Amino acid sequence: MKILGVMGSPRIGGNSDILLERALAGGKDAGAETEKIVLCRKKISGCLNCERCNATGVCAIKDDMPEIHEKILGADAVIHSCPVYFWAMTAQMKAYLDRWCAFFDAEWRWHEAYYPKMKGKHIGLITVCGDPNVSTADPIVHSFKTTAEFTNLCWIGAVMASATAKGEIAGNNKAKQEAYELGRKAATQG
Ligand SMILES: Cc1cc2nc3c(=O)[nH]c(=O)nc-3n(C[C@H](O)[C@H](O)[C@H](O)COP(=O)(O)O)c2cc1C
Repeated sequence: MKILGVMGSPRIGGNSDILLERALAGGKDAGAETEKIVLCRKKISGCLNCERCNATGVCAIKDDMPEIHEKILGADAVIHSCPVYFWAMTAQMKAYLDRWCAFFDAEWRWHEAYYPKMKGKHIGLITVCGDPNVSTADPIVHSFKTTAEFTNLCWIGAVMASATAKGEIAGNNKAKQEAYELGRKAATQG
């Protein structure tokens, strides 16, 4: 069992990062191998909708995303962590998510080669927003949950937390415990 953590905040060591680390610790304690990718340290361009991947399953853009595609394929679970920027996900996370396009054919079905590796993969999400009302992050949850459901992945849930200053979430034991449990669930469900 392998869990891939995808960190979508450019603030390394910030709130999303802290909660993702808790989730990966939960997964590790449940027996999983874990790996974290920090998106802002990677070069990931936006999808060009050039449709070349529709036939080949290979993205035409030469940047760091193809190596991340391989890591996604090789993981049993992927947990994403992202702060709210202007009522939406960060630019880094959106560029990453749009590049999932390469996994699909022209009818948005998994490419045959990828389907056995993607089917039933566990997908989870952590969000952090400055707003005390965590539902501010609903649009991010909607994107990931709908993507998972639309493509027959296994949605394991979202942890939604509120914090503003860098590292502030470290004082929120409830959010840290929820993130830890999400990681355990990623390692054990289904
Ligand atoms: C560019 C930018 C836009 C933001 N927009 C929102 C927003 O729309 N709603 C909100 O609740 N918080 C917003 N925030 C606050 C962050 O979500 C908050 O500080 C969060 O804790 C950052 O998480 P991080 O430490 O993982 O980067 C914004 C922060 C930045 C830098």
